[in-house]
Amino acid sequence: MARRKIIIDTDPGQDDAVAILLALASPEELEVLGVTAVAGNVPLALTQRNARIVCELAGHANIPVFAGSDMPLSRPLVTAEHVHGKTGLDGPTLPDPEMPLQKGHAVDFIVETLRNEPAGTVSLVPIGPLTNVARAFQDAPDIMQRVQEIVLMGGAYFEVGNITPAAEFNIYVDPEAAEIVFRSGIPLTVMPLDVTHKALVTTDRVEAFRQMGTRVGAMVAAWTDFFERFDKEKYGSEGAPLHDPCTIAYLLEPGLFSGRYINVEIETESELTRGMTVADWWRVTDRPANATFMGDLDAKGYFDLLSKRIARL
Ligand code: RIB
Ligand code: CA
Repeated sequence: MARRKIIIDTDPGQDDAVAILLALASPEELEVLGVTAVAGNVPLALTQRNARIVCELAGHANIPVFAGSDMPLSRPLVTAEHVHGKTGLDGPTLPDPEMPLQKGHAVDFIVETLRNEPAGTVSLVPIGPLTNVARAFQDAPDIMQRVQEIVLMGGAYFEVGNITPAAEFNIYVDPEAAEIVFRSGIPLTVMPLDVTHKALVTTDRVEAFRQMGTRVGAMVAAWTDFFERFDKEKYGSEGAPLHDPCTIAYLLEPGLFSGRYINVEIETESELTRGMTVADWWRVTDRPANATFMGDLDAKGYFDLLSKRIARL
């Protein structure tokens, strides 16, 4: 089967890091054309640094990493150091990356790549706020029909919000950008908190990473150890939800996930519910379906896939 060409748009973040590692550990199925950094969990100067750290850790210093938007389309930036730590990759102490940041802007890279690659052969995998993707569509509407699929982590329905009572962080930070993406008409697969909160990296799963005896395994264990303390405290859960790797796992083994093709709209007006993904799960409106909104996953299968692939690095 032909390899899927993808661009990962990211705000590392420990879970972003694991998603990037999973993608780079899967060259038979995925060709990572580039990694584009966006401000989100931490400011852009850190997310672009962290993206390079992760690519180097995976032994892929050749992957082009671009810096993108340092703030949302029309709102002040909201960050999440309380979850990811000051650096965004707290847990282990990490040296600065040696691989260079690409000169161009991430948005231009997304536009040029979609124009240069054959139509319908490149998928976008946004795992942070959607600012870069939305700006690419604003700058170059012609590329929208050339995107094969968007597989994003964001939103929530039954799980409601994690940054406010109503909204999940990635959508909350830039709801206007999310609205552009969800209204694009591009095939859209959404990994909301409804799924990622069932993908908990429990203590034994952290241990499995540590037992790999590899530098990457030790790093993933240290990141997930650090990352889980926030969710354990808040939800009393058995570990942190490993949100972002769900997008890559879907590209590798879609059968791990189940959901519904429904209408999902983004709240952008109300300050109380800004960033809410209004998912018509029960199809009570006649609003046209625009997204495959995932609701469940095979958590054991997910972690088996993660462990098998991460152990390769
Ligand atoms: O709400 C979870 C999402 O916000 C994840 O992508 C995490 O990395 C943060 O960006
Ligand atoms: Ca993220």
